[in-house]
Amino acid sequence: MKSRLLLRVPAILPAALIAGAALAGEAPPDLPTSPLTIVPRTAEEVARIAAVVAPATDFTAPERFEALPGGAATSKALVNRDAYSHSSANMSFEKELDFKIGNGLFRKVWVSAPSSTQASDGLGPLYNSRSCQRCHLKDGRGHPPEGPEDSAESMLLRISIPGRPEDVIERIEGYIATIPDPMYGLQIQDRALPGYVPEAKMQIAYERIAVPLADAETANLRKPIYSLADLGYGPPHEGAMLSPRVAPPMIGLGLLEAVPAEDILALADPEDADGDGISGRPNITWSKDLDRPMLGRFGHKAGTPTIRQQSADAFAGDVGISNPVNPSGWGECSDLQDECRKAPDGAAEADQNLELDTEGLDLVTFYSRNLAVPMRRDIDDPQVLRGKRIFYETGCAACHQPKFVTHRLKNQPEQSFQLIWPYTDMLLHDMGEGLADNRPEARATGTEWRTAPLWGIGLTASVSGHSFFLHDGRARSLLEAVLWHGGEAEAAKTRVTEMPGPERDALIKFLESL
Ligand code: HEC
Ligand code: HEC
Repeated sequence: MKSRLLLRVPAILPAALIAGAALAGEAPPDLPTSPLTIVPRTAEEVARIAAVVAPATDFTAPERFEALPGGAATSKALVNRDAYSHSSANMSFEKELDFKIGNGLFRKVWVSAPSSTQASDGLGPLYNSRSCQRCHLKDGRGHPPEGPEDSAESMLLRISIPGRPEDVIERIEGYIATIPDPMYGLQIQDRALPGYVPEAKMQIAYERIAVPLADAETANLRKPIYSLADLGYGPPHEGAMLSPRVAPPMIGLGLLEAVPAEDILALADPEDADGDGISGRPNITWSKDLDRPMLGRFGHKAGTPTIRQQSADAFAGDVGISNPVNPSGWGECSDLQDECRKAPDGAAEADQNLELDTEGLDLVTFYSRNLAVPMRRDIDDPQVLRGKRIFYETGCAACHQPKFVTHRLKNQPEQSFQLIWPYTDMLLHDMGEGLADNRPEARATGTEWRTAPLWGIGLTASVSGHSFFLHDGRARSLLEAVLWHGGEAEAAKTRVTEMPGPERDALIKFLESL
């Protein structure tokens, strides 16, 4: 195979310049909602960082610090089912208590209001799950139901319809207007409290797709086809678009939030100016906290700017719990679902008339920011090193960007100034028709997805007991996940199908060491 390096090296440019170019006069897009207080980099640091994040060129030995993908926050605990549940290793003893309380809220099983356990009531009336942890199982990823009897709890269906010209957010260039389904809102809640009607059940049928591989047996992919059954409120709008999503793993999120926006934007190449077939576009989305556009980082289409907003939206949309960002007590009931809107809620005056107050939301956010990335295994194994070289040469690293250095942060020492190895550029890529959900989100089109971070992916089976990958869990192995890559990643995928079997095995072995 011809040796080629398809990596885009982040040109680290002054923040003002790039942020200005991307957002036409907006302030830098990663201004905090929560106390991310950024210390600007010195010119000397900028040069040092550029050298440190330069792509690997020597594959005979591991790189310095490669064993610690989350920098000093990396967990060095033993590999077992709890491998995703440890706190940042560099966290102070005093903060461990906040982490534990946050964990308690993440695991809390909410009940309906009114109830004697006032602090835990307010569930629903419509909901997907009674706790965060039931989707983010063991702080890891969810999975599609394995057969008609299995629960679809750790997965959900987003829904929306095309917007009208007046729904365009003009301050976001390239924003694709969509609006909630008038009846079902932005998400199908498949559960409801007694006395209320669940919205619908997700149904999945699978089609087989054979993919011939050089030097090996043909791979058989399963293509899911989604539909809604048991519609509780009549047919959705005729233009309704559905997007299936499994809960992603919760590790390393605070570090991803602390990657300087300018470093992410420097990797974008929307017009493919370098002609490598890979573009990469930032999602820009609306911050509910700051009431202005921000770089999108979280969710499978990077449709959410911060961990705090993602968590607040999960409380409201997935569990039906009101919070400072989403104060209505009925969660995601639309204004056509008036029975649901009239249900008693669990808000208490002592908690700012919310089911979850600011303190609670901030504790869950703190917890979500500090779930540590596990240490790598086998980094000096010759087959892993060979797989790493193939990963670079095949073009995987062009999107799965290996390294960043996080911002220096005033009051988040755990995330501050760490060399991290997330294997994502945090950008949107057109992944082709095969993976398309055909449902836009902010600037993301129906074929675009955010590059999934690959850190910790080798521990999926240990933590979650399954190996389902991609945004909807359709891939049943790491190899299947790669074989689904199309669009901008078509060339990389083809190289994988055509490479000799032992090279493919080494590539997978490298992924398993992450
Ligand atoms: C019904 C299942 C479900 C429940 C319950 C749930 N989540 Fe999630 N979570 C998801 C899905 C699906 C996504 C991806 C969303 C997207 O693509 O927009 C996600 C994404 C996230 C992310 C962003 C992760 C990333 O890599 O971008 C955070 C943070 C998060 N959830 C926190 C929470 C918190 C906190 C709770 C509890 C209030 C919670 N979630 C409850 C399914 C769930
Ligand atoms: C054009 C950008 C691009 C290239 C090139 C690319 N990927 Fe990806 N990768 C993505 C995106 C985007 C996703 C998420 C897709 C989804 O969830 O539907 C992804 C998902 C994955 C996943 C599943 C992650 C998860 O958490 O479920 C694996 C594994 C993976 N890629 C490995 C590779 C390997 C190995 C290569 C090289 C052969 C590669 N990728 C090349 C963009 C890319």
